[in-house]
Amino acid sequence: MNLEALLAARLAGAFGAVAGRPVDPAVRVSQHADFQSNAVLALAHALRRPPSEVAAEVVAAADLSGLATISVSGPGFLNLTVDDDFLASAAAGFPEPQPAGGERIVLDYSGPNVAKEMHVGNLRSTIIGDALARILEWQGHEVVRVNHLGDWGTQFGMLIEYLVDTGEGSGHSLGDLTRLYREARVRFDSDEDFQRRARLRVVALQSGDPRSRELWRRLVAQSEEAFMDAYHRLGVTLQPDDFVGESFYQDQLASVLDELRAKGLLVQSDGALCAFPPGFAGREGDPLPLLVRKSDGGFGYAATDLAAVRYRVRELKADRLLYVVGTPQSTHFAMVFAVARMAGWLTPEVAAEHVDFGSVLGTDGRMLRTRAGDSVKLSGLLDEADARASSQAVGMAAVKYADLSSDRRSDYVFDWDRMLATTGNTGPYLQYAYARIRSMFFRAGTDVVFGPVSLGEPAERALALALLGFEPAVQAAGDRREPHRLAAYLHDLAVAFSVFYERCPVLRSDGATRASRLALADRTARTLEQGLTLLGIELPDEM
Ligand code: ARG
Repeated sequence: MNLEALLAARLAGAFGAVAGRPVDPAVRVSQHADFQSNAVLALAHALRRPPSEVAAEVVAAADLSGLATISVSGPGFLNLTVDDDFLASAAAGFPEPQPAGGERIVLDYSGPNVAKEMHVGNLRSTIIGDALARILEWQGHEVVRVNHLGDWGTQFGMLIEYLVDTGEGSGHSLGDLTRLYREARVRFDSDEDFQRRARLRVVALQSGDPRSRELWRRLVAQSEEAFMDAYHRLGVTLQPDDFVGESFYQDQLASVLDELRAKGLLVQSDGALCAFPPGFAGREGDPLPLLVRKSDGGFGYAATDLAAVRYRVRELKADRLLYVVGTPQSTHFAMVFAVARMAGWLTPEVAAEHVDFGSVLGTDGRMLRTRAGDSVKLSGLLDEADARASSQAVGMAAVKYADLSSDRRSDYVFDWDRMLATTGNTGPYLQYAYARIRSMFFRAGTDVVFGPVSLGEPAERALALALLGFEPAVQAAGDRREPHRLAAYLHDLAVAFSVFYERCPVLRSDGATRASRLALADRTARTLEQGLTLLGIELPDEM
C-alpha cells in the first residue's frame, strides 16, 4: 500500500479537470498534516490565476471520500489527512512485493580481484550491490547478478611463472595467495630474467598453453572459494554461477575492436588504439582517450568493459545496466558508456548507470588503513566484528547497516563503537527493536495477530502511518539506488514503535484494544524484518 501514490492518483483527476491537462499533484509527507500536495502554486502561475482560487477549485473537484479529508493552507497548499478507518485497515495489511514484470537489470557488483585478498574497498560494492539486488527484485524487476572478477591481465604471467619457478603449484593447494602475490611481485621488480619470462608466460596463457591455463584455473578457483567464504559470512546472495570474470570476454575482444574500427571510432595514439568520446578532457583540456588496445597489442580493463556492455545488452537482453563501483571509476564508466552508445551497443532503450560510492574512512577521518598503512583485509575486519559483537548476526548487522545507512556517495567513518551501539541509527538498534517485539509476543503466548486495528491514541495513529511508509521507502531506495532511504525509514519506524510502546500499554490492556495493539506490534515486527531482509541483515529472535 502506497498512500502517497493512492492520494496522488485520486487528486490527479481534480487537477486534470482544473488544468485541462495532466498535472502531477506532488503529494509528500508533511509536518502540517499527514500529507501535503504542493502542485497548486505552479499550476496557478501557469494559468495566471490566483492560487487560492485554483486551490478552491481543485478541492471542490477532488473526490477523496473514504480515503482522506482535504483543506487549503497558506497560499495554496493542500493538506491531506487520512481517514482513521482507512488508515486502520491499511495498517492491518502485510508488506507485499510487487508482481514480476519489471525491467531486466544486469547488476554488476563486488568484483574482487583474483589472487588478492578482499579488502574494505570490495566491502562497500558487495554490501550495497546485494541490498540493491534484493530491493530491485522486491520491486518486481528481474535481476541478473554479475560478479566481474579481476581474473585476467599481465599479473597472471608473473604469478604463474613464480609458481612454476618455485614448484609451489605442484601441491594440492597453492598456499596463501596474498603472500604469493607479494613474493612474485618482489621477484618481478628485482629480476630481469624473471620479468622477461613472466611476459612470455602471459603470451603462453593467452594462447592456451595447457600448463599455464591449468595453474591459472587453480588460482581462480582458490580465490573464488575465498570470495564465497566472505559472501557466506556476510550473508550475501552471490553464487558461483554469478561469477563472470574479465577472462570470459577475452575471445570477444577482437570483434569489439573490429566493430569499433569499422565505425571509425578508433584513433592510433603512440601505437595504442584509443577511442575519443566527445566531452571528455584531461587536466590541460586535451581530449581524453579510452584505451582500447595497448601498444603491445594487449587489451585492458576498458576493452573488457566494452565487451561486457555489448554482451549484457545483446546476449543477456538487459533493459538496464547497473555498476556498483567506487567513485574513482566515474570517468571510466562515463567513457565506456559513451563509446558503447557511439558503437550502437547501448541502444537508446537501454539505460546504463554507474552506482558510485565513497570511501570508508578511519576514525581519524582518513582512508581506512592498518597501522602499517596497508589496506584493511575484509576477513580480519569480519573477525573483529564477530569478536566485538554479542553474536555473529549482530556483528554483521553493525558492519552492513553502517554502510547502508549513509548516503552511498559520501565517505563514511568506520567506528566500531558507534556501529555496535544499541541506540541510535544502527543495525543492532533495529535488531533490538525487533527482538523486543518478539519477546513481547513470547510473553503474550501468541504469534500472528489478524485482528482489526483501531486508532485511539495519537501514538497508535503515528505508528500506523509509519507502517504505511514502507512501500514508498522501498520504492525510493530502488528507483534511486539509495539503500539509505530504506534504512532511514526502518529507523523512523522503530522510533515510532518505541513511542507507541511507551505510551500505549499492550499486554496490560485488554479486549479489542489489546488485540489491536498486538496487531500493530506484529505488523511493526514484520515490516522491520522485511525491510532488514531487503538490506541483507539478519534478525535474531533474542538479543
Ligand atoms: N575488479 C574491479 C576493481 O577492483 C572492479 C570491477 C567492477 N566492474 C566492472 N565491470 N568494471 O576495481
